[in-house]
Amino acid sequence: MRILLLAGTYEARQIAQRLGRDGRLEVTASLAGATRVPLPLDGEVRVGGFGGQVEQQNYIMNNGFDGVIDATHPFAARISARTQMICAALNVPYVQVLRPGWAPGPGDDWRMVTSEAGVPGQLAANMRVFLATGPGSVAAMGRLPVAHVLCRRIDAAETPYPHDNGEWLIGRPPFSVEDEVETFRQAGVDILVTKNAGGAGGFAKLEAARALGLPVVMIDRPPQPPGEKAETVEAALDWVERL
Ligand SMILES: NC(=O)c1ccc[n+]([C@@H]2O[C@H](COP(=O)([O-])OP(=O)(O)OC[C@H]3O[C@@H](n4cnc5c(N)ncnc54)[C@H](OP(=O)(O)O)[C@@H]3O)[C@@H](O)[C@H]2O)c1
Repeated sequence: MRILLLAGTYEARQIAQRLGRDGRLEVTASLAGATRVPLPLDGEVRVGGFGGQVEQQNYIMNNGFDGVIDATHPFAARISARTQMICAALNVPYVQVLRPGWAPGPGDDWRMVTSEAGVPGQLAANMRVFLATGPGSVAAMGRLPVAHVLCRRIDAAETPYPHDNGEWLIGRPPFSVEDEVETFRQAGVDILVTKNAGGAGGFAKLEAARALGLPVVMIDRPPQPPGEKAETVEAALDWVERL
């Protein structure tokens, strides 16, 4: 049986590793190529966009995939919506691996916004902001009306931070709570801006914000496509077993 695994997350790496041990399966993992040096993935890997909807549909058809596991990031809304539609049209079983979102605990000061557009309204001119949304969000938010922005990214940037009040910070997750506390302290951060990605790996920054009493601007997830969901790696493996 042939499986296409859309990757780009921790869950995708776990699924590739676990399915790779199953001699009944041929698994191809697909990466967008967003990170210059991605963490290793088990098995056959293709890298780069498909080149659009028609090309992706042809790729799935021509390779005779029997099922598609969409383990892309909860904020990778375009690829998920498109893949679900293609699979429905081709009658190829599709499952989206969608980890539960984060929720605030007692004492947390989270300011919820529905998209990046809502972020500037939650900030004040004297604030030093830690942007954990990734560099892709910077263009969507424009120049934040604050004293300073520190925006974390995985790869070294080819160009400086695009606004005069900010800078990049290079770092590859996961980070421990202690690392995050130290980073926020050293940079004199007043507020954390992040996306509701969910998952254990990224929660350390929220625990650090809690420990330091920092408010958090939390960007809500975009709408997800219809269709079958797996909240965990185990649930995705069960889906393959049922297939
Ligand atoms: N958005 C985030 O916050 C975030 C965070 C961590 C990791 N990621 C990962 O980074 C990748 C890109 O994220 P995004 O938000 O830019 O996605 P997106 O907006 O949904 O997709 C943009 C384009 O990237 C290509 N693409 C995305 N995922 C792909 C995959 N697994 N294999 C092949 N092509 C893929 C497609 O290009 P074509 O149109 O050319 O086919 C797609 O149209 C995703 O795979 C996602 O899992 C995203």
